Amino acid sequence: MAELLVEVESVTKTYRLGGRLARKPPTVAVGGVSVAIAAGESVGVVGESGSGKSTLAGIICGLVRPDSGSVRVAGREVYARRGLDRTIWRTVQMVFQDPYTSLNPAMTVAEIVAEPSRLWHGMDRREADRRALELLDRVGLSAGAAQSRPDSLSGGQRQRASIARALAVSPSLVVLDESVSALDVSVQAQILQLLLDLRRENDLAYMLISHDISVIRLVCDRILVMNGGEVVEELLSAGLTEEAARHPYTRRLLSAVPTMAVDRQG
Ligand SMILES: Nc1ncnc2c1ncn2[C@@H]1O[C@H](COP(=O)(O)OP(=O)(O)OP(=O)(O)O)[C@@H](O)[C@H]1O
Ligand SMILES: [Mg+2]
Repeated sequence: MAELLVEVESVTKTYRLGGRLARKPPTVAVGGVSVAIAAGESVGVVGESGSGKSTLAGIICGLVRPDSGSVRVAGREVYARRGLDRTIWRTVQMVFQDPYTSLNPAMTVAEIVAEPSRLWHGMDRREADRRALELLDRVGLSAGAAQSRPDSLSGGQRQRASIARALAVSPSLVVLDESVSALDVSVQAQILQLLLDLRRENDLAYMLISHDISVIRLVCDRILVMNGGEVVEELLSAGLTEEAARHPYTRRLLSAVPTMAVDRQG
């Protein structure tokens, strides 16, 4: 058994809109979820919109403090009572659904991607720049795009820049929240290949959130199915058939796979 990188135990996150006096009932975004991720593991998360995928991802990445439960990353309690353990961001990085706000608009893409190497890994400027260009090349961004600022790039280019920035930290786990879904098929394949390569080369673990279960089956060994804030099912990708799934939502997803595969080629 590989060493456990992430240990999430019975986490709950409830949102109350409009304060305690509001008539609206609180939303249980995540209700009592436990997940463990080992070093070098590949985990997929599927579930309907609003099922709690992004909230769970935020909890795992040290961005959303749960109301109860515990999160340990590399053996350290992330949400300690006296405050957040910020060292988590050396180990776990998240790539957001909408990367617009996570890229500093005043910097070029190359500077953004070089920054973690300088600040966190003590590289000098030349070394950090070289590493940034290498990472940008691996996500398929040209030297021209590297010298641009985020707001002059397309959404897909920005998405790739934020993936490169997350990888520049050399995390042990990267969580990608719908980060590849909107990319062109060939670019998507390149990013997925990069994840597979980094997993083999560096023992990188990744968690991929996607509506597209066919993508997840391609690059993830294990699949968590979320529904109503809970993990309702856990499946292995290998040899997965519609019959293996117990939950009706999972069965629907799996029965829709051939159509999606055709769509992706069209
Ligand atoms: N910051 C917030 N404030 C209030 N409610 C929130 C907040 N974040 C999430 N929620 C609610 O919590 C529930 C779970 O949301 P979450 O974003 O985790 O779902 P999701 O599975 O990522 O959905 P999607 O597939 O649409 O991205 C939803 O009902 C959502 O409206
Ligand atoms: Mg989401």
